[in-house]
Amino acid sequence: MPRARLVAVGSALPERRLTNADLAKMVDTTDEWITTRTGIRERRIVDPGQRCSDLAEAAARACLEKAGTKAVDVDGIIVATITGDQLMPSVANLVQHRLGAVNAWGFDLLNACNGFVAALSTATCFIESGRAKRILVIGADVMSAIIDYEDRNTCILFGDGAGAVLVEAGDSQGHGVHGFELHSDGGGAAELALPGSGTVPHDAKAAVFQNGRVVFSHAVRRMAEVAESCVAGLGLTGADVDLIIPHQANIRIIEATAERLKVPMERVVVNIDRVGNTTAATIPLALAQADADGRLHEGTRILLVAFGGGFTWGACYLTWGR
Ligand code: COA
Repeated sequence: MPRARLVAVGSALPERRLTNADLAKMVDTTDEWITTRTGIRERRIVDPGQRCSDLAEAAARACLEKAGTKAVDVDGIIVATITGDQLMPSVANLVQHRLGAVNAWGFDLLNACNGFVAALSTATCFIESGRAKRILVIGADVMSAIIDYEDRNTCILFGDGAGAVLVEAGDSQGHGVHGFELHSDGGGAAELALPGSGTVPHDAKAAVFQNGRVVFSHAVRRMAEVAESCVAGLGLTGADVDLIIPHQANIRIIEATAERLKVPMERVVVNIDRVGNTTAATIPLALAQADADGRLHEGTRILLVAFGGGFTWGACYLTWGR
Protein backbone atom coordinates (compact mmCIF):
# COMPACT_ATOMS: atom_id res chain seq x y z
CA MET A 1 0.00 0.00 0.00
CA PRO A 2 1.46 3.41 -0.92
CA ARG A 3 1.99 5.82 1.93
CA ALA A 4 0.54 9.35 1.74
CA ARG A 5 3.54 11.60 2.19
CA LEU A 6 3.37 15.33 2.88
CA VAL A 7 6.01 16.96 0.71
CA ALA A 8 5.41 20.73 0.88
CA VAL A 9 3.33 23.37 2.57
CA GLY A 10 2.29 26.87 1.50
CA SER A 11 0.21 29.56 3.16
CA ALA A 12 -1.58 32.83 2.56
CA LEU A 13 -2.59 35.51 5.04
CA PRO A 14 -4.39 38.78 4.37
CA GLU A 15 -2.28 41.92 4.92
CA ARG A 16 -4.71 43.67 7.27
CA ARG A 17 -4.14 43.19 11.00
CA LEU A 18 -6.90 43.42 13.60
CA THR A 19 -5.24 43.85 17.00
CA ASN A 20 -6.69 43.44 20.48
CA ALA A 21 -6.42 47.21 20.83
CA ASP A 22 -8.58 47.62 17.69
CA LEU A 23 -11.19 45.23 19.15
CA ALA A 24 -11.21 47.11 22.47
CA LYS A 25 -12.51 50.12 20.49
CA MET A 26 -15.31 48.01 18.97
CA VAL A 27 -16.61 45.95 21.94
CA ASP A 28 -16.32 45.94 25.73
CA THR A 29 -13.03 44.07 26.08
CA THR A 30 -9.34 44.64 26.80
CA ASP A 31 -6.02 43.45 25.40
CA GLU A 32 -5.25 41.95 28.82
CA TRP A 33 -8.50 39.91 28.91
CA ILE A 34 -8.04 38.54 25.40
CA THR A 35 -4.35 37.74 25.83
CA THR A 36 -4.69 35.95 29.17
CA ARG A 37 -7.88 34.01 28.27
CA THR A 38 -6.95 33.03 24.71
CA GLY A 39 -3.30 33.80 23.90
CA ILE A 40 -4.39 35.87 20.87
CA ARG A 41 -2.81 39.28 20.22
CA GLU A 42 -3.86 39.96 16.65
CA ARG A 43 -5.50 38.27 13.67
CA ARG A 44 -5.53 38.92 9.91
CA ILE A 45 -8.70 40.08 8.16
CA VAL A 46 -9.42 40.13 4.41
CA ASP A 47 -9.99 43.34 2.51
CA PRO A 48 -13.44 43.87 0.98
CA GLY A 49 -13.77 41.65 -2.08
CA GLN A 50 -11.04 39.22 -1.01
CA ARG A 51 -12.57 35.74 -0.86
CA CYS A 52 -11.86 32.30 0.52
CA SER A 53 -10.92 31.10 -2.98
CA ASP A 54 -8.33 33.89 -3.28
CA LEU A 55 -6.56 32.79 -0.10
CA ALA A 56 -6.88 29.10 -1.03
CA GLU A 57 -5.44 29.75 -4.49
CA ALA A 58 -2.50 31.74 -3.10
CA ALA A 59 -1.70 29.03 -0.55
CA ALA A 60 -1.92 26.33 -3.24
CA ARG A 61 0.42 28.24 -5.58
CA ALA A 62 2.97 28.71 -2.78
CA CYS A 63 2.76 25.01 -1.94
CA LEU A 64 3.20 23.82 -5.54
CA GLU A 65 6.15 26.15 -6.01
CA LYS A 66 7.79 24.84 -2.86
CA ALA A 67 7.20 21.25 -4.01
CA GLY A 68 8.46 21.96 -7.55
CA THR A 69 5.29 20.36 -8.89
CA LYS A 70 3.21 21.53 -11.86
CA ALA A 71 -0.54 22.04 -11.43
CA VAL A 72 -1.21 19.65 -14.34
CA ASP A 73 0.35 16.85 -12.28
CA VAL A 74 -2.17 17.19 -9.46
CA ASP A 75 -4.95 14.54 -9.43
CA GLY A 76 -7.24 16.03 -6.81
CA ILE A 77 -7.94 19.11 -4.69
CA ILE A 78 -9.77 18.94 -1.37
CA VAL A 79 -10.61 22.22 0.35
CA ALA A 80 -11.68 22.19 3.99
CA THR A 81 -13.72 25.32 4.67
CA ILE A 82 -16.95 26.61 6.21
CA THR A 83 -16.71 29.97 4.46
CA GLY A 84 -16.54 29.13 0.76
CA ASP A 85 -17.34 31.93 -1.69
CA GLN A 86 -20.65 30.20 -2.44
CA LEU A 87 -22.06 26.76 -1.59
CA MET A 88 -21.89 26.00 -5.31
CA PRO A 89 -19.45 25.90 -7.02
CA SER A 90 -16.98 24.55 -4.51
CA VAL A 91 -13.82 26.50 -3.68
CA ALA A 92 -11.90 23.45 -4.93
CA ASN A 93 -13.40 23.91 -8.39
CA LEU A 94 -12.46 27.60 -8.47
CA VAL A 95 -8.90 26.81 -7.38
CA GLN A 96 -8.64 23.94 -9.88
CA HIS A 97 -9.57 26.28 -12.74
CA ARG A 98 -7.34 29.17 -11.66
CA LEU A 99 -4.31 26.93 -11.17
CA GLY A 100 -4.85 25.25 -14.53
CA ALA A 101 -4.99 21.90 -12.74
CA VAL A 102 -6.79 20.44 -15.73
CA ASN A 103 -6.30 16.82 -14.65
CA ALA A 104 -7.65 17.29 -11.11
CA TRP A 105 -11.04 16.63 -9.59
CA GLY A 106 -12.00 18.74 -6.57
CA PHE A 107 -14.51 19.11 -3.79
CA ASP A 108 -14.99 20.99 -0.52
CA LEU A 109 -15.28 19.33 2.83
CA LEU A 110 -17.24 20.87 5.72
CA ASN A 111 -15.93 19.86 9.12
CA ALA A 112 -15.38 23.17 10.93
CA CYS A 113 -12.13 23.41 12.92
CA ASN A 114 -11.41 19.72 12.33
CA GLY A 115 -11.69 20.26 8.56
CA PHE A 116 -8.01 20.00 7.73
CA VAL A 117 -7.49 16.73 9.64
CA ALA A 118 -10.61 15.31 7.95
CA ALA A 119 -9.45 16.46 4.50
CA LEU A 120 -5.94 15.06 5.00
CA SER A 121 -7.42 11.76 6.20
CA THR A 122 -9.63 11.64 3.08
CA ALA A 123 -6.67 12.36 0.81
CA THR A 124 -4.70 9.64 2.61
CA CYS A 125 -7.42 7.09 1.78
CA PHE A 126 -7.38 8.09 -1.92
CA ILE A 127 -3.60 7.69 -2.00
CA GLU A 128 -3.40 4.47 -0.01
CA SER A 129 -6.05 2.88 -2.24
CA GLY A 130 -4.04 3.80 -5.34
CA ARG A 131 -6.84 6.01 -6.74
CA ALA A 132 -4.73 9.19 -6.73
CA LYS A 133 -1.04 10.04 -6.77
CA ARG A 134 -1.01 13.73 -5.89
CA ILE A 135 -3.62 15.68 -3.92
CA LEU A 136 -3.61 19.27 -2.77
CA VAL A 137 -5.19 19.47 0.67
CA ILE A 138 -6.18 23.03 1.54
CA GLY A 139 -7.62 24.54 4.71
CA ALA A 140 -9.06 28.01 4.07
CA ASP A 141 -11.46 30.22 5.97
CA VAL A 142 -12.62 33.81 5.89
CA MET A 143 -14.11 33.85 9.36
CA SER A 144 -14.53 37.65 9.31
CA ALA A 145 -17.44 37.12 6.88
CA ILE A 146 -19.44 35.19 9.49
CA ILE A 147 -18.53 36.98 12.70
CA ASP A 148 -20.71 39.51 14.46
CA TYR A 149 -18.24 42.27 15.41
CA GLU A 150 -20.64 43.36 18.17
CA ASP A 151 -20.42 39.98 19.93
CA ARG A 152 -17.39 40.03 22.23
CA ASN A 153 -17.78 36.31 22.93
CA THR A 154 -16.76 35.42 19.38
CA CYS A 155 -15.25 38.40 17.54
CA ILE A 156 -12.03 38.33 19.56
CA LEU A 157 -11.27 34.73 18.60
CA PHE A 158 -11.30 34.40 14.84
CA GLY A 159 -9.18 35.45 11.86
CA ASP A 160 -8.78 34.71 8.14
CA GLY A 161 -6.15 32.64 6.32
CA ALA A 162 -5.32 29.58 4.25
CA GLY A 163 -2.73 26.83 4.10
CA ALA A 164 -2.11 24.07 1.59
CA VAL A 165 -0.19 20.80 1.71
CA LEU A 166 0.79 18.60 -1.24
CA VAL A 167 0.21 14.92 -0.47
CA GLU A 168 1.92 12.39 -2.76
CA ALA A 169 1.94 8.63 -3.10
CA GLY A 170 5.20 7.25 -1.74
CA ASP A 171 6.92 4.08 -0.69
CA SER A 172 4.94 1.96 1.79
CA GLN A 173 7.82 2.05 4.28
CA GLY A 174 8.68 5.71 3.69
CA HIS A 175 7.60 8.95 5.33
CA GLY A 176 3.98 10.07 5.38
CA VAL A 177 0.77 9.46 7.28
CA HIS A 178 1.15 6.54 9.70
CA GLY A 179 -2.30 6.77 11.24
CA PHE A 180 -5.30 9.00 11.92
CA GLU A 181 -8.41 9.02 14.04
CA LEU A 182 -11.67 10.93 13.51
CA HIS A 183 -14.64 11.39 15.86
CA SER A 184 -18.04 13.11 15.93
CA ASP A 185 -20.64 13.92 18.57
CA GLY A 186 -23.69 15.71 17.18
CA GLY A 187 -24.90 16.04 20.77
CA GLY A 188 -22.79 19.20 20.87
CA ALA A 189 -24.46 20.70 17.80
CA ALA A 190 -26.15 23.61 19.59
CA GLU A 191 -23.03 24.76 21.46
CA LEU A 192 -21.05 26.00 18.46
CA ALA A 193 -23.02 26.71 15.31
CA LEU A 194 -23.64 29.01 12.38
CA PRO A 195 -27.41 29.69 12.36
CA GLY A 196 -28.62 31.12 9.04
CA SER A 197 -25.91 29.49 6.98
CA GLY A 198 -28.09 26.70 5.57
CA THR A 199 -31.65 26.20 4.41
CA VAL A 200 -33.33 26.53 7.82
CA PRO A 201 -35.03 29.96 7.86
CA HIS A 202 -33.30 32.49 10.11
CA ASP A 203 -34.17 36.15 10.59
CA ALA A 204 -30.66 37.59 10.85
CA LYS A 205 -27.36 37.45 8.97
CA ALA A 206 -25.49 34.20 9.61
CA ALA A 207 -23.05 34.65 12.49
CA VAL A 208 -21.07 32.20 14.62
CA PHE A 209 -22.73 31.37 17.94
CA GLN A 210 -20.62 29.79 20.67
CA ASN A 211 -21.23 28.69 24.23
CA GLY A 212 -17.57 29.31 25.10
CA ARG A 213 -17.39 27.54 28.45
CA VAL A 214 -19.06 24.35 27.21
CA VAL A 215 -16.95 24.27 24.02
CA PHE A 216 -13.82 24.89 26.05
CA SER A 217 -14.42 21.94 28.39
CA HIS A 218 -15.18 19.56 25.50
CA ALA A 219 -12.21 20.82 23.46
CA VAL A 220 -9.75 20.33 26.33
CA ARG A 221 -10.97 16.79 26.99
CA ARG A 222 -11.37 15.61 23.39
CA MET A 223 -8.12 17.07 22.00
CA ALA A 224 -6.12 15.45 24.80
CA GLU A 225 -7.95 12.12 24.42
CA VAL A 226 -7.59 11.85 20.66
CA ALA A 227 -3.96 12.98 20.72
CA GLU A 228 -3.11 10.24 23.20
CA SER A 229 -5.24 7.61 21.51
CA CYS A 230 -3.85 8.32 18.00
CA VAL A 231 -0.23 7.80 19.07
CA ALA A 232 -1.09 4.89 21.40
CA GLY A 233 -2.88 3.17 18.48
CA LEU A 234 0.48 3.13 16.69
CA GLY A 235 2.25 1.77 19.76
CA LEU A 236 3.82 5.18 20.43
CA THR A 237 3.82 7.86 23.15
CA GLY A 238 4.46 11.59 23.38
CA ALA A 239 8.19 10.77 23.37
CA ASP A 240 7.78 9.77 19.70
CA VAL A 241 6.44 13.20 18.75
CA ASP A 242 8.91 15.89 17.64
CA LEU A 243 6.22 18.48 16.96
CA ILE A 244 2.59 18.79 17.98
CA ILE A 245 0.76 20.96 15.48
CA PRO A 246 -2.57 21.63 17.17
CA HIS A 247 -5.66 23.49 16.07
CA GLN A 248 -5.20 27.03 17.37
CA ALA A 249 -8.38 27.93 19.27
CA ASN A 250 -7.05 28.85 22.68
CA ILE A 251 -3.53 28.64 24.15
CA ARG A 252 -4.94 27.00 27.30
CA ILE A 253 -6.47 24.15 25.24
CA ILE A 254 -3.14 23.70 23.41
CA GLU A 255 -1.20 23.58 26.70
CA ALA A 256 -3.60 21.01 28.18
CA THR A 257 -3.16 18.75 25.12
CA ALA A 258 0.63 18.94 25.31
CA GLU A 259 0.58 18.27 29.04
CA ARG A 260 -1.51 15.13 28.58
CA LEU A 261 1.10 13.76 26.16
CA LYS A 262 3.94 15.00 28.40
CA VAL A 263 5.33 16.95 25.45
CA PRO A 264 7.03 20.22 26.50
CA MET A 265 5.71 23.41 24.90
CA GLU A 266 9.04 23.85 23.02
CA ARG A 267 7.84 20.94 20.85
CA VAL A 268 4.43 22.51 20.16
CA VAL A 269 3.88 24.90 17.26
CA VAL A 270 1.96 27.97 18.36
CA ASN A 271 1.00 30.90 16.13
CA ILE A 272 -2.38 31.76 17.68
CA ASP A 273 -0.91 35.00 19.05
CA ARG A 274 -0.42 36.31 15.49
CA VAL A 275 -3.34 34.80 13.54
CA GLY A 276 -6.08 33.76 16.00
CA ASN A 277 -8.44 30.91 15.20
CA THR A 278 -8.64 30.55 11.41
CA THR A 279 -10.84 27.40 11.62
CA ALA A 280 -9.82 24.95 8.85
CA ALA A 281 -6.63 26.91 8.15
CA THR A 282 -5.03 26.74 11.61
CA ILE A 283 -3.09 23.49 11.13
CA PRO A 284 -1.64 24.14 7.66
CA LEU A 285 -0.81 27.72 8.72
CA ALA A 286 1.02 26.37 11.77
CA LEU A 287 2.79 23.79 9.57
CA ALA A 288 3.89 26.62 7.27
CA GLN A 289 5.10 28.56 10.31
CA ALA A 290 7.12 25.54 11.45
CA ASP A 291 8.60 25.28 7.95
CA ALA A 292 9.50 28.98 7.89
CA ASP A 293 11.14 28.63 11.32
CA GLY A 294 13.31 25.74 10.07
CA ARG A 295 11.50 23.19 12.26
CA LEU A 296 10.32 20.84 9.47
CA HIS A 297 12.90 18.31 8.30
CA GLU A 298 12.90 15.03 6.46
CA GLY A 299 11.42 12.56 8.96
CA THR A 300 10.19 15.06 11.57
CA ARG A 301 7.55 13.19 13.62
CA ILE A 302 4.40 15.27 13.77
CA LEU A 303 1.07 14.95 15.53
CA LEU A 304 -1.81 17.04 14.17
CA VAL A 305 -4.81 17.39 16.48
CA ALA A 306 -8.03 19.41 16.25
CA PHE A 307 -11.48 19.98 17.73
CA GLY A 308 -14.37 21.92 16.29
CA GLY A 309 -18.07 22.67 16.01
CA GLY A 310 -20.27 19.65 15.49
CA PHE A 311 -18.70 18.49 17.72
CA THR A 312 -15.95 16.96 15.61
CA TRP A 313 -12.37 16.10 16.52
CA GLY A 314 -9.42 14.13 15.22
CA ALA A 315 -5.69 13.55 15.10
CA CYS A 316 -3.12 12.40 12.55
CA TYR A 317 0.43 11.11 13.13
CA LEU A 318 2.92 11.49 10.30
CA THR A 319 6.57 11.81 9.45
CA TRP A 320 7.36 14.74 7.17
CA GLY A 321 8.86 14.80 3.71
CA ARG A 322 9.64 12.75 0.63
N1 COA B 1 -13.80 40.57 26.92
C1 COA B 1 -14.08 40.71 28.22
N2 COA B 1 -14.92 39.91 28.89
C2 COA B 1 -15.49 38.92 28.20
C3 COA B 1 -15.24 38.71 26.83
C4 COA B 1 -14.37 39.58 26.19
N3 COA B 1 -14.05 39.48 24.90
N4 COA B 1 -15.95 37.64 26.42
C5 COA B 1 -16.60 37.19 27.49
N5 COA B 1 -16.34 37.96 28.56
C6 COA B 1 -16.84 37.83 29.93
C7 COA B 1 -18.05 36.94 29.99
O1 COA B 1 -19.22 37.69 29.71
C8 COA B 1 -18.01 36.46 31.43
O2 COA B 1 -18.58 37.45 32.26
P1 COA B 1 -19.55 37.00 33.46
O3 COA B 1 -18.69 36.15 34.35
O4 COA B 1 -19.96 38.32 34.03
O5 COA B 1 -20.65 36.23 32.80
C9 COA B 1 -16.52 36.41 31.74
O6 COA B 1 -15.87 37.19 30.74
C10 COA B 1 -15.94 35.00 31.70
O7 COA B 1 -16.45 34.35 30.54
P2 COA B 1 -16.11 32.87 30.19
O8 COA B 1 -16.87 32.49 28.97
O9 COA B 1 -16.23 32.03 31.41
O10 COA B 1 -14.58 33.01 29.86
P3 COA B 1 -13.58 31.88 29.52
O11 COA B 1 -12.44 31.91 30.44
O12 COA B 1 -14.29 30.57 29.30
O13 COA B 1 -13.03 32.36 28.10
C11 COA B 1 -13.37 31.81 25.79
C12 COA B 1 -13.92 32.52 27.02
C13 COA B 1 -14.33 32.00 24.64
C14 COA B 1 -12.04 32.44 25.45
C15 COA B 1 -13.18 30.33 26.13
O14 COA B 1 -14.37 29.83 26.69
C16 COA B 1 -12.83 29.50 24.96
O15 COA B 1 -11.74 29.60 24.42
N6 COA B 1 -13.73 28.60 24.54
C17 COA B 1 -13.48 27.64 23.52
C18 COA B 1 -13.19 28.33 22.24
C19 COA B 1 -13.01 27.36 21.18
O16 COA B 1 -12.22 26.46 21.31
N7 COA B 1 -13.74 27.58 20.10
C20 COA B 1 -13.61 26.97 18.88
C21 COA B 1 -13.49 25.54 18.93
S1 COA B 1 -12.98 25.18 17.38
